Amino acid sequence: MHNIMVLNAKGGCGKTTISTTLACYFAGQGYKTALMDYDPQNSSHHWLDMRKPSQPQIRSIDAARPRAGMTRTWQLHTGVETEVVVIDTPAGVTGGRLVELFNKADSILIPVMPTVIDLQAVEGFLTELMRFAKNRLHGKRVAMVINRVRFKTATYEKIEALSARLGIPLIGSLRDTHNYAIAMETGMGICEMKSGVTSKDRKQWQPIINWLHEAIPGKEPGQATTFSESPGWQPEAKSVALS
Ligand SMILES: Nc1ncnc2c1ncn2[C@@H]1O[C@H](COP(=O)(O)OP(=O)(O)OP(=O)(O)O)[C@@H](O)[C@H]1O
Ligand SMILES: [Mg+2]
Repeated sequence: MHNIMVLNAKGGCGKTTISTTLACYFAGQGYKTALMDYDPQNSSHHWLDMRKPSQPQIRSIDAARPRAGMTRTWQLHTGVETEVVVIDTPAGVTGGRLVELFNKADSILIPVMPTVIDLQAVEGFLTELMRFAKNRLHGKRVAMVINRVRFKTATYEKIEALSARLGIPLIGSLRDTHNYAIAMETGMGICEMKSGVTSKDRKQWQPIINWLHEAIPGKEPGQATTFSESPGWQPEAKSVALS
């Protein structure tokens, strides 16, 4: 089982968007997938609730609050058959909470938006994370993704420089597009939406997926795993109204 955590203390940088997109991708590829939500806002779970029974199944695990009458271990139990767990985390994670989450992850994706405020915030967050992670990486993988890119600005270049300075690879950048809002409103993922309108996004996801597949074997040995194919489910034409 591989735990992919989407983490950044900064709010609104795309943690839930990236978590739901990934859960959808892995489920669509035939992996037994769970989406674990540590955020009391439960945004990931609202998205899961919108999914139709005909869509590839994603198991829902609410990790935000302890459940009455259930041990924490049982509450977070993903099931022995689960192959990929995507973990959505809340904003404002620091200190002991950060340590607790860090310990649960195999791969950590850090979304950052190319704005001055987000750059300053992520610099502080990464410094704390790396201080803690030093000597504790134990095979954990950490990478950054720039999210909501419109142009390659000076701030974008500063994020590239930060990545090089801290030795945290920058593995992808995602454009700013309404497609993600539509996906969130309809319980879909980019890989389930019409390929014509999402082709740019699918291309942008490929290096992120490649990086994850360095640690998660493909379903078909020797076969390239591409973000453009989600064989498990084809959307009904009228459920996708993209402009
Ligand atoms: N690449 C993108 N293009 C356009 N809109 C995006 C993109 N990524 C995220 N958004 C939008 O930005 C908003 C915040 O995204 P999201 O909820 O994923 O962030 P978050 O980090 O999970 O926020 P929070 O810290 O509150 O949990 C949402 O309205 C989402 O649709
Ligand atoms: Mg969120």
